[in-house]
Amino acid sequence: MKIGFIGLGIMGSRMAANLQKKGFELVVTNRTRQKADDLLAGPARWAESPAEVARQVDVLITMLSTPDAVSQVALGENGFLAQLPAGSIWVDCSTVNPSFSRQMAREAKTYGIHFLDAPVAGSKDPAEKAQLLFFVGGDAQDVVVCQPLFAAMGRQAFHLGDTGMGASMKMVFNSIMGASMLAFCEALALGQSLGLEQKTLLDILSVTPMLAPFIAPKRSKFESGQYDTEFPLRWLRKDLQLASESAYEQALPLPFLNLAKEIYTQAMQAGLADQDYSAIYAYVSGQK
Ligand SMILES: NC(=O)c1ccc[n+]([C@@H]2O[C@H](COP(=O)([O-])OP(=O)(O)OC[C@H]3O[C@@H](n4cnc5c(N)ncnc54)[C@H](OP(=O)(O)O)[C@@H]3O)[C@@H](O)[C@H]2O)c1
Repeated sequence: MKIGFIGLGIMGSRMAANLQKKGFELVVTNRTRQKADDLLAGPARWAESPAEVARQVDVLITMLSTPDAVSQVALGENGFLAQLPAGSIWVDCSTVNPSFSRQMAREAKTYGIHFLDAPVAGSKDPAEKAQLLFFVGGDAQDVVVCQPLFAAMGRQAFHLGDTGMGASMKMVFNSIMGASMLAFCEALALGQSLGLEQKTLLDILSVTPMLAPFIAPKRSKFESGQYDTEFPLRWLRKDLQLASESAYEQALPLPFLNLAKEIYTQAMQAGLADQDYSAIYAYVSGQK
């Protein structure tokens, strides 16, 4: 099975490296070529465009930033969709909204291409250690075909139903993550404003259930004020926007999520877009 991989950012570069390590034959491309250098030092081959990747592979994986980026790379100039061999599988691991995944599945079907939405849970470190979780929507037979790929990049793949159900699960996951991080950071800022030492706050919260397991590894960032990027704040804000749009489609009010999204937007305006999303602490504590 020959694999195409498009999108070699923080996540994609590490996912592709794990496929390579497990012996899969890879053809890759990325808007910024230099991000492929490490992979190309191994047996992976470079293609000049998404279309050129598509012509050579049986399964194509995308790990791109936004629905717009996915749409451009799939359907724009030199896009891959029209070039994939009929019967091949496109696995989109990008975080996008479920209705967008369904739209891509419909586009893919017109070319005889199978589509799986397979966004991931886990950030830079789990991506590097092949510990990601995949939330998968699409045909069960295609999931079986792609299982060795999921196993090479992650620790479990959950098949959640038809197209869009993987993206739906991812909307839930990141809604909790974004809103909880913000609530935690506000409370931490409150404690400090009342005169409690940050170290005391974190020491005590860490022996209670109040410090969530996904926030605990961010401690050194809060303490140092250095928010080295694992998950860029701009993409967390994008995911809250996509969750908001998904809720709009269901006529479901999400007042808290929408408020959280706006606070992340303000943090972006304050210059934190490319830092880790935990830099929301710098924003709510008045450091930025
Ligand atoms: N980082 C995390 O912790 C994490 C965890 C789970 C899910 N995700 C999701 O995974 C996806 C990738 O995230 P990331 O953190 O790897 O982001 P990233 O480092 O910013 O990578 C984004 C990728 O998309 C490409 N791209 C963006 N716009 C494009 C366009 N118009 N045309 C072609 N390529 C384009 C970038 O190309 P260039 O290299 O040229 O910029 C890069 O390869 C996002 O949907 C994100 O929400 C991220």
